[in-house]
Amino acid sequence: MNSSAKNLSSAKSLSSAKNLSSAKNLSSAKTVDLRCEFVVNPIGIGETRPRLSWRMEDERDAARQTAYRLVAATTPKKLDTHPDLWDTGFVKGGQCLDVIYSGKPLKSRSRVFWKVRIADADGAETDWSEPASFELGLLGEKDWTAGWIGRKTENDGYFQPSPFLRKAFRLASEPVSARLYATALGLFEMRVNGAKVGGDFLTPGWTLYFKRVQSFTYDVTPLLRKGPNVLGGILGTGWYTGAITRDRSQGGKQLALRAQLEVLCADGSRVVVATDTSWKTSFGPILSSDIYHGEHYDATRERIGWDSPGFRAAGWTKALEVAPPHISVDPARSLPIRAQQELAPGACAEPRPGEFIYDFGQNMAGLMRVTLQAPRGTRVRLRFGEMLNPDGTLYTENLRSAKVTDTYVCRGGGSPETYLPRFTFHGFRYAEITGLDKAPAKEDVAAVVLHSEMEQTGWFTCSNPLVNQLQSNISWGQRGNYLDVPTDCPQRDERLGWTGDAQVFIRTAAFNRNVAGFFTKWCLDLEDSQSPGGAFPSFAPNVCARADEQVSEEDFVGGESAWADAGVVCPWNEYLCYGDRRLLERRYAGMLKWIDWQEERSVDGILDHARYGDWLALDVWSLSPRYDRQLTPRPLISTACFARTTAIVRNAAKVLGREDDVRRLSHLLARVKAAFNREFVTPAGRLVSETQTAYLLALAYDLLPDDLRDKAMAHLVRKFAEHKDHLSTGFVGTPLIGPVLSRFGRTDLAYKVLLQKTYPGWLFSVLQGATTMWERWNSYTIEAGFGDASMNSFNHYGYGAIGEWLYATVAGIELDEDDPAFHHVVIKPCPPPEISLSAPPEDTVTWAEGRLMTRYGLVISRWEATPEGRLVFSFTVPPNTTATIRLPGRKPYDVPAGSYTVR
Ligand code: BGC
Repeated sequence: MNSSAKNLSSAKSLSSAKNLSSAKNLSSAKTVDLRCEFVVNPIGIGETRPRLSWRMEDERDAARQTAYRLVAATTPKKLDTHPDLWDTGFVKGGQCLDVIYSGKPLKSRSRVFWKVRIADADGAETDWSEPASFELGLLGEKDWTAGWIGRKTENDGYFQPSPFLRKAFRLASEPVSARLYATALGLFEMRVNGAKVGGDFLTPGWTLYFKRVQSFTYDVTPLLRKGPNVLGGILGTGWYTGAITRDRSQGGKQLALRAQLEVLCADGSRVVVATDTSWKTSFGPILSSDIYHGEHYDATRERIGWDSPGFRAAGWTKALEVAPPHISVDPARSLPIRAQQELAPGACAEPRPGEFIYDFGQNMAGLMRVTLQAPRGTRVRLRFGEMLNPDGTLYTENLRSAKVTDTYVCRGGGSPETYLPRFTFHGFRYAEITGLDKAPAKEDVAAVVLHSEMEQTGWFTCSNPLVNQLQSNISWGQRGNYLDVPTDCPQRDERLGWTGDAQVFIRTAAFNRNVAGFFTKWCLDLEDSQSPGGAFPSFAPNVCARADEQVSEEDFVGGESAWADAGVVCPWNEYLCYGDRRLLERRYAGMLKWIDWQEERSVDGILDHARYGDWLALDVWSLSPRYDRQLTPRPLISTACFARTTAIVRNAAKVLGREDDVRRLSHLLARVKAAFNREFVTPAGRLVSETQTAYLLALAYDLLPDDLRDKAMAHLVRKFAEHKDHLSTGFVGTPLIGPVLSRFGRTDLAYKVLLQKTYPGWLFSVLQGATTMWERWNSYTIEAGFGDASMNSFNHYGYGAIGEWLYATVAGIELDEDDPAFHHVVIKPCPPPEISLSAPPEDTVTWAEGRLMTRYGLVISRWEATPEGRLVFSFTVPPNTTATIRLPGRKPYDVPAGSYTVR
């Protein structure tokens, strides 16, 4: 018997303390990065059978896990001695992702400590991992004793003041453990004894409020003490009653807080402090707050100490009891929005007397923190913009009706005061301060970057500095728009979860950052906003939906091809990138409904429901920017997307073992493809409307018979030639350019289009000074200034979807759809073919490197041309995975984990 088999069999019965101690002859491998539902040590989750994952660290070649053993217990001590919840015993195999917790049943508040050890390729066992933990939130209505409370106000518009709510209470002995569960209709900030609870902003996030809100769980043990304590809450309008929803007919009126503090004390007593009418309320310094329009804060109205013991709440009234909204209150799926980074400004400019302008050097989304000193009552105005006018003043025309203005009235008294708004956010690079005699020193001003928690997982760099700037712009585009939902832009009076933008960018997003949890939540928003008949909305949450009104399918804002497709594309890509099969299972019924909806409306396989067409395409028959002037026919786009989504759902059905659906959808797909060819393709492989987008769709979505592909490809190449190898595509066509040209053998052309420095194209905007992706390539030009302000966002990530091609094709890190989550990696780098010429084009890319932190570990792929034009490839395949290597001009081969160089 070899040692591996021995180790495995001796580990069979494993519940004694002895067996839990470390085995001898330990493996040098390690298990790290233990996660539950994609998060390290989460608290407040809503899953009773959460999924547990870890990563194997092992430097040896061909490293892989051959077995695992996972134990779980109610306390750290029991975890070491006698796991009382679960012991899997050694389970053979390499599974390290999404092991479903199957120990003793869990319920609301259950706290679980767990650890894992594995056997390596030789069968040698590792030591136990460091312990990890997870904890459940309040799962159901019955767990809540807290009611909904607020403050009565005459003004229930979106400029309503923020209620402050407080409750004083005593703890008879030291707190041992304390959890605060909180949610709101509106936004909340909770306070305990003078301190902000948690580091998050804009909580509890944005959901379809007439269906659900999310509750957040906080460990507040360190903030409490024996004796008097105060729990406080502040409410803001946010997405609930603010202009963003109100202006579009959705949205509530009465702000409300629901909070429940549960404390276990040293004397064994349990104390619950829950929102009810014994709470006291007052208005305070926040006179209004709104996501579009900004916050108005009057520091002279501050009630210092209101959230601490000893405050005499004179004039505070009894909290208003708010009728329960009868919606589900779910433990948060959202990852919190947090301050991720601070940017310091350059020198302050003063283009007009008293107008102080700060440049943070980077377009972003978030808030500005400013420290200033001025006499009591001084009114300071803070405005924000993405660009400057030629005279150096703030450019705000593109914000449309959004006021994007914070006002701060100084407390005075001779000491510096610091202001950071709470219940708004702005998209900006520049800030303007007026109302002060003297500009605050630049050390006293900072831009606070906000976005949802999503750690960086991807790094792309290459020899071309302009492409590197493009990559940075793409990354900042994502950071500026992933605030609880994926928005189109963070600055103007829009900031909606536009589905088309999200679906074209999701693959790029999943390279740049870990967006697994982010999309788990948004995919539910999509489904919550799906029409009864099955149409996904144009934006989720659907700000046009109303609880009290049955909207007919025809009036529903959604069901538009390429936009509504997000409901299918996003869960599917979450499955591909992260292996999230559970998400696919849960969203599958909704995905299928979208196919049914399309099928019902199609006539002989042709669907005509693509209102936005190839949004912002440059192929138009009149110069009007209106989408109905596009040259690519909308039925062509619609039918192509119908086929694509049918193929995706068919593939999902295969994964989930729904054989009947596989059959039905395969037939449907064949019918739609046939219709597409009948209606839009000539026997010579020409498309009836000869736009780049039309050819790209036909090729990308495999709509053509084999014998027409090369022909269509030749036409596509001709269409590029007609545009001097520039693109003429919009939101739908542009993301397909790199992938299609490379797949059909024209990587050279893909590079050419990418590297164009003239309009239109990616590097054109870079050369005009972009630090994020722009809505239009020429949103601003050095030569002609600003484009039409009505559609002129400087932070619109849609065209950043080229990022997928940079990682997957230029660097060559691709996944295998049959073995997702990069469990089987395809390393397929594609240097520009002309690199081996004796005189390659001047600006071409001569080396590139992609790094991707997959759930298994770091994949690296790098190539470099030597001065003689020879190519050197190096790559790293993480433990527990395998890779197929496809290098240009060579036969593919398979490798196990390890680091490799090929010359
Ligand atoms: C948004 C886009 C969106 C589009 C729909 C615009 O106003 O900013 O990004 O996808 O509407 O066509």
